[in-house]
Amino acid sequence: MKLKNPHVFLIVIYCLLYRTVCAQHIPIYLDENFPLESRVEDALPKMTLEEKVAMIHAQAMFSSAGVPRLGIHELWMTDGPHGIRAELNWNNFDYAKWTNDECTAFPALTCLAATFNPELAYQYGKAIGEEALYRKKDVVLGPGVNIYRTPLNGRNFEYMGEDPFLTSKMAVSYIQGVQLNGVAACVKHYALNNQEQWRQHINVELSDRALHEIYLPAFKACVLEGNVWSVMGSYNKIRGQYGCHNNLLINEILKKYWNFDGVVISDWGGVHDANEAVYNGLDIEMGTWTDGLKSNGKSTFDNYYMAATLFDKIKKGEIPESAIDNKVRRILRLIFRTSMNSQRKFGSLVSEEHINIARKIGEEGIVLLKNDKDFFPVEKGKYKKILVIGENATKPLTLGGGSSELKVKEEISPLDGLKKKYGEENIDYTMGYGSGPSVYAKEVASPYNADSLHRKALQMAKDVEIILFIGGLNKNHHQDCEAGDRLSYDLPFEQNKLISDILRINKNVGIVLISGNAVAMPWIKEVPAVMQAWYLGSESGTALANIISGDTNPSGKLPFSFPVKLKDNGALFFGESSYPGDNVNQYYKEDILVGYRWYDTKKIKPLFAFGYGLSYTKFEYGKIDIVKKNFSKDETIELKIPISNIGERDGAETVQFYVTQSKPSVLRPEKELKAFKKIFLKTGETKYIEVVIPVSSFAFYDEQKQSWIVEEDKYIIHCASSANDIKNSVSIFVK
Ligand code: BGC
Repeated sequence: MKLKNPHVFLIVIYCLLYRTVCAQHIPIYLDENFPLESRVEDALPKMTLEEKVAMIHAQAMFSSAGVPRLGIHELWMTDGPHGIRAELNWNNFDYAKWTNDECTAFPALTCLAATFNPELAYQYGKAIGEEALYRKKDVVLGPGVNIYRTPLNGRNFEYMGEDPFLTSKMAVSYIQGVQLNGVAACVKHYALNNQEQWRQHINVELSDRALHEIYLPAFKACVLEGNVWSVMGSYNKIRGQYGCHNNLLINEILKKYWNFDGVVISDWGGVHDANEAVYNGLDIEMGTWTDGLKSNGKSTFDNYYMAATLFDKIKKGEIPESAIDNKVRRILRLIFRTSMNSQRKFGSLVSEEHINIARKIGEEGIVLLKNDKDFFPVEKGKYKKILVIGENATKPLTLGGGSSELKVKEEISPLDGLKKKYGEENIDYTMGYGSGPSVYAKEVASPYNADSLHRKALQMAKDVEIILFIGGLNKNHHQDCEAGDRLSYDLPFEQNKLISDILRINKNVGIVLISGNAVAMPWIKEVPAVMQAWYLGSESGTALANIISGDTNPSGKLPFSFPVKLKDNGALFFGESSYPGDNVNQYYKEDILVGYRWYDTKKIKPLFAFGYGLSYTKFEYGKIDIVKKNFSKDETIELKIPISNIGERDGAETVQFYVTQSKPSVLRPEKELKAFKKIFLKTGETKYIEVVIPVSSFAFYDEQKQSWIVEEDKYIIHCASSANDIKNSVSIFVK
């Protein structure tokens, strides 16, 4: 070959040589072609003790340090879990007042769980990860997977209900969606943070079975199936030791048994002991309430437990440096997976796609609880005027609630959504009751005059054809809000009285409850229709109006049971020592019988059962089709069942599979959810649902053997449309 220009040849040779020589100067830890572990091991010995200590505690309220000298990036964290929180100040929890940090608010996780649709959880995670990327965040502090133990927990709205299997499935998909972006999810709060009252110190005592069968499975699934990159410790104590430095939970279970290779981050201010923090598996200490936080002094974050004092101790040889090396390895791994991942995209904030996902989740999560005489849907044109009563029709419910509070670009209120759907002139509105501004961790008296609001509502209710009451809880302290529990199971702000008074005047009332928790419904027999609408985020009004009008058919199912009264709930049945405890200890006396496991086993009829939700169409269940009936313990069971849409609208049904063991040697719940599938059917259509259930999932946790056991026995698999509506069952035998 004859080169036209010999200079080109020389330039190519020069470049190749330059690359080979220079490549030797790119350290392995910076080279993404090397395996992750080699990069971590390459970086660690290059770090000084000072740099290592800097990495294991906060450098700002939501950031931990990198190693600038080595070009190793810092980490930026953000709440989570329903959207990317507005920027906070470096040194405190006040908002930084940026003007470019408005986000998409996705529906609260209770609503996501109510969709029973893991694909939507994946899209939710993917979208929130994209918003995190745009805001240059590396770790999203969510999802929350604490189990719904009582309807009083102020933070239930941030979790995914009472069933470990449902929570696991939804959380795993959420995490996969987030982490696809090179952004870490941080599953929280590990573990047993099932109430907000005394959350900073209450000591939870419970059996090994309750721990392993109810409260840990979702965390386990997030680690083993979701490969989550970080976990947040809980504030409370578990068996005498704080969650953020709990040897059993972190060292033994999370890191040893589940082989978790990610980072354990403390909840903000959840660290209380330097020694335990160092030795019991905590990797990054965040939010410790040092005085320094209030000042702009030089060493604000040096006062942390794993900061200056620890450095001195290691220097003096009182603590070996190796005690923190494992933490640093994990943090390096997290940094390489996230902030130093060159494949990360730019992300996007409030894109049309994200808004659509938020709306879709909202629509699929809304649960129709009662619908006598086809009250819903309220078809367009059927009534000349619709009277809307209730503060939640207009209150911005992305505000308040605690760390999940969001600064949304736009929040379409239920009232706005209804006006848009039915025409402004066809909607009248009055508040009916008032709760005051959105607050977190304090109570503010309502500025509204309750009497006049009440009177006005009754006056307007007299002559209208139809009323939509849009009420429920809100994000104020002692409602659905962090740092405090609800004080009552009743609707607050005299709503029950208002509803009853309205019903005396006008019976054509549909109740729309916006909340993340169950509430008492003393008026349930008198109202024709009730809808559970959660906190739906940016697209609240659009999603709700689509369901109310029938443009979308509801398909949500309850992710937790609604008891008739508080005492019916398992945890509350046992009195104060069980919930909320005596300010020092509490005992989970209902044990493994949480949620429907309690109502079923104790034969207590809930107001609305787990898994329950109506549709505007009707579904018919066929017979379970199973090829064989005898299984060994390592086999999987394959089932199918035909489901038909026999109504007049297209719609979706969530088919649930529960399992009962017939003669267990230990107490077992009446039945437990082992599979579910949501299916979309056009009117007149029939489809087979196919599920695969591993026999190993029938196991209970044997406290003596400290392991999972499947007993030889007959098991009954129920196919159901809710926990109290079994359509048909089939028996199988396990040998
Ligand atoms: C909450 C966490 C949250 C953190 C940071 C804590 O008070 O419990 O869920 O992620 O604050 O805002």
